[in-house]
Amino acid sequence: MSRKKIIAGNWKMNKTPSEAVELVKTLAPLVQNPEVDVVYCVPAIDIIPVRDAIAGSNVHLGAENVYFEESGAFTGEISPAMLKDAGVEYVIIGHSERRGYFGETDQDINKKLLKLLEHGFNPIVCCGESLEQRESGITMDWINMQIKIAFQGVTADQAKGVVIAYEPIWAIGTGKTATTAQAEEVCKGIRETICGLYDEATAAAIRIQYGGSMNAKNCAELLAEPDIDGGLIGGAALKPDFGTIVKC
Ligand code: 13P
Repeated sequence: MSRKKIIAGNWKMNKTPSEAVELVKTLAPLVQNPEVDVVYCVPAIDIIPVRDAIAGSNVHLGAENVYFEESGAFTGEISPAMLKDAGVEYVIIGHSERRGYFGETDQDINKKLLKLLEHGFNPIVCCGESLEQRESGITMDWINMQIKIAFQGVTADQAKGVVIAYEPIWAIGTGKTATTAQAEEVCKGIRETICGLYDEATAAAIRIQYGGSMNAKNCAELLAEPDIDGGLIGGAALKPDFGTIVKC
């Protein structure tokens, strides 16, 4: 089965609304590639201006987080309905920065995933190990646990539409990319985990991205691997390099 590649930018806490519109304009001629799903996951306050700036283009709109309740007294949070109404299609959940700095647990991520699926979003579920975990040889055990908890209560049909982003924490923003073999090994392992949880068809359909210092130079090799279906890009998403990644 051939899976459509997905290249998503995670802008993190960068770009004011006016800067965001400027960036969309700069990238517009560089990111046209009908063979790839291109997504900008942007800070909440940039969602509306970016939606307007990408209107009519091939770029899809994404958010960086969501809360798992429908509405109510959750100061500072954003509900699925708010994102839907604003035109968001993709939502990143479980990023290691959210887990590390804001204490998100696997259980929170499971609730968020179920809620996003209920509302018809395309979730991007992040997972990944720390350097310590890699060095102690428990990478795949750790990631299997993250995936198994995140997908509790998710049906096979729903799982097919989920994107999983494998992001080794030690490779994020460090310039230290996982080797192609390391990235492929884990992405393949994730596909096997999905096969074990569901079936061959679900494992063949689900898209798995690599993220962590992916850039214009190393993207071609990573994206050529059989189990790497795209990239979740941080730093390079804020530069014309993003266009190079989309084209490669
Ligand atoms: P960098 O590409 O800056 O390493 O960030 C990766 C990432 O965290 C994307 O979600």
